[in-house]
Amino acid sequence: MKDPFREAAILLKHSRFTTAFTGAGISVESGIPSFRGEGGLWNKYDPKVLDLQYFLEDPSGSWTVIKEIFYDFFNAALPNKAHLVLARMEREGMLGRIITQNIDNLHQEAGSGMVFEFHGNTKNLRCLHCHRSYKAGQISLDHFPPTCRECGGILKPDFVFFGEAIPQLPLAAAYEAASLSDVFLIIGTTGEVMPANQIPVMAKQYGAKIIEVNPEPSNYTTEITDIFLQGKATSIMEKIERLLFPES
Ligand code: APR
Repeated sequence: MKDPFREAAILLKHSRFTTAFTGAGISVESGIPSFRGEGGLWNKYDPKVLDLQYFLEDPSGSWTVIKEIFYDFFNAALPNKAHLVLARMEREGMLGRIITQNIDNLHQEAGSGMVFEFHGNTKNLRCLHCHRSYKAGQISLDHFPPTCRECGGILKPDFVFFGEAIPQLPLAAAYEAASLSDVFLIIGTTGEVMPANQIPVMAKQYGAKIIEVNPEPSNYTTEITDIFLQGKATSIMEKIERLLFPES
C-alpha cells in the first residue's frame, strides 16, 4: 500500500509549478467557522445577507449580520500552521501561487506573497455611489449602514457578493494557474460555489495532479482528486512540511 503523504511530497518536491486552492476549511482552526457542514455559518445565518440585491434593498439589515460574521469574528483570527506551511513552501520555491476563496486575509498575514483573492477581502469598504475606498478599520460600524465621508453614499464591504462579478485580476490569475500548474493542492473547500469551483476542474483538464486536504470528501474527491489526504488542514500540512523539509 503506497503512502499518500510520501506520494504527495514527491509530487510537490518535483513540481514545476504548484498552485494551492483554498477554501474556508483552511481557516476553521484559526477560529473562523466554515460556511457549510457542521457549525457552518449558513446553518445560523441566511446566505441572502451576501446577496447583492438583498444588500441594496436592506443595507442596514444586511450590515448587521455582515458585521457579526465578518468583522467581529475575523479580526480576532490568526493564521494557523496550514497557512504558515504554504507561506514557507512559497519562500522555498515550492509554491507558485495561492488562489483563495477566503476573504479573511490570513494567507497574507502568514507571509504568503502570491495570493489571489477570488472573492475579494474584508479589508476595504467601497462607496456604492462615488466608489471611494476606505480601510475597514477607518470606518465606525456602530451604526448601519456606514456611509461615505465625501458623498454620504452607502458603503459596501469590498468582497464579492452572490450575484457580483469576480474581480478581473484574481480571475485571470486563477485561469492562468489552472493552465500552468502540474500540481494543484486543494485545501478545505466543498467545491460548491461557482465559478470558483471550476478552477480545480480546469487544472485537472490541463493535466495537473490533484492533491486534496479535507476531513470530509468534497465534490472533488471522487471526481478529480488523485491523492486525498483526509484530515484537518493543520495536522496534514504539518506532516507534509516534515516530508518536504526533513532537516527542519
Ligand atoms: N481543515 C480542512 N478542511 C476543513 C476543516 C479543517 N479543519 N474543517 C472543515 N473543512 C472543510 C469542510 O469539510 C468543507 O469541505 O472545509 C470545507 C468548507 O466548505 P465551505 O464552508 O463550503 O467553504 P468554501 O468551499 O470555501 O465555500 C466557498 O462559498 O459562501 C461562499 O463565498 C463563500 O468563499 C465561500 C464559498
